[in-house]
Amino acid sequence: MSSLSALKISSCFSKYKLQPSRILHTAWFYFGTSQPVSKRPTHSVPFRTVDLRSDSVTKPGLLMRRAMAEAEYTDDVFGDDPAVKGLQKLAADVFGMESALFVPSCTMSNLIAVMVHCRERGDEMIVGDLSHMHIYEQGGSAQLAGVHSMIVTTLPDGTFDLDQVEAKIRHGYPNVYYPRSRLVCVENSHNIQGGRVLPLPFLQELRALVDRYDLQVHMDGARVMNAAAALGVQPSTILQHCHTVSVCLSKGLGAPVGTVLGGPADFIQRALRARKALGGGLLQVSVLAVAGKMALSDMVGRLPEDHRNARTFAQALLQCNPPIYQLDLNSVETNIVCFRICEPGVSPAELCRRAAQVCEAEERTLGQGVRVLMLPVVGGSVRAVWHLDISEEDTRLAALKMQFVAQQLTKWKARGH
Ligand SMILES: Cc1ncc(COP(=O)(O)O)c(C=O)c1O
Repeated sequence: MSSLSALKISSCFSKYKLQPSRILHTAWFYFGTSQPVSKRPTHSVPFRTVDLRSDSVTKPGLLMRRAMAEAEYTDDVFGDDPAVKGLQKLAADVFGMESALFVPSCTMSNLIAVMVHCRERGDEMIVGDLSHMHIYEQGGSAQLAGVHSMIVTTLPDGTFDLDQVEAKIRHGYPNVYYPRSRLVCVENSHNIQGGRVLPLPFLQELRALVDRYDLQVHMDGARVMNAAAALGVQPSTILQHCHTVSVCLSKGLGAPVGTVLGGPADFIQRALRARKALGGGLLQVSVLAVAGKMALSDMVGRLPEDHRNARTFAQALLQCNPPIYQLDLNSVETNIVCFRICEPGVSPAELCRRAAQVCEAEERTLGQGVRVLMLPVVGGSVRAVWHLDISEEDTRLAALKMQFVAQQLTKWKARGH
């Protein structure tokens, strides 16, 4: 990230009274909570775990735990909770939206958005075929909201071909044959496509298109704060092109639980009803709201650090010898690295298994054991995600381990496996 971008980000956060010194201070406490050294169950040699499975694995740091311990207990279902109100107000300001609602998870937030945008039986949403909403949310929009999905192809950068989107919009309501198009959903940054950031011109053109057909845009912005940091803009610069957004507090921002759903005031009024119907009314939830507020105010400024570490790891993968890891470095824009293994007979799951294993030879070569935890994802890739519990040193060790695994695999294949 350029120094100009860093400047833009810091001025953006100062607008919301987010002080850089507090950001650093809080981040320091977070790093202090990682668990670098563990004992292997069957041996006495210590090893380090670098958990790159998801940015949702972060644990609250000392400051956040202290704030949670001191939270007042008032009731949010009765609308009495000042901590929840404070979080929702801050979120609405940061998003540049009228109103916001605290919700237990991003999955529920996306579902509520679908329920509020698509209110009639037979309504339809247009959604990317590789989106989290389509792949990983159990078809909740059909299962629980009765909404039909029309799929468009997700391009490698997380965008869609807008001609394809336009071709899929249904015309002629109330023609008895067709559902009624209501909503287009985008994801930013795009998880399966490796944390890709949607370009602003794409969002602008999409918004112009949906406005022409009187549809709405919902953004699954679980990681939109990462997208804003990568572009060096305020979140509201991105979100001005959307009607509503879900933003996770529990991923790179480090809160234990929670998402904020943002949108117009009348949308949020309806969302409140939908949340209650789904069992998401949270009673004395200040303990989570204070963590969420801290996540949104104090933790955003450190996201570029995760992006830098992810890129360092990606570069190291490309330098491994033998060159068995494949990825496009230009596609590493945020905190996610998706890569392929090009060693015949070695599946992504097998690679993840080996990276997570510690053996004696490794301790001899690297001086210590390193368990790197990653996940195989849709499309035959392996995904590694950076977050506040992963330091530069963790990143360096993870890269060494991947080099070690590459060499081990080659030896293993040479033995005829
Ligand atoms: C893009 C995206 N949307 C939504 C979710 C769901 O988040 P939650 O676990 O809070 O339901 C995730 C989780 O990883 C995600 O990556």
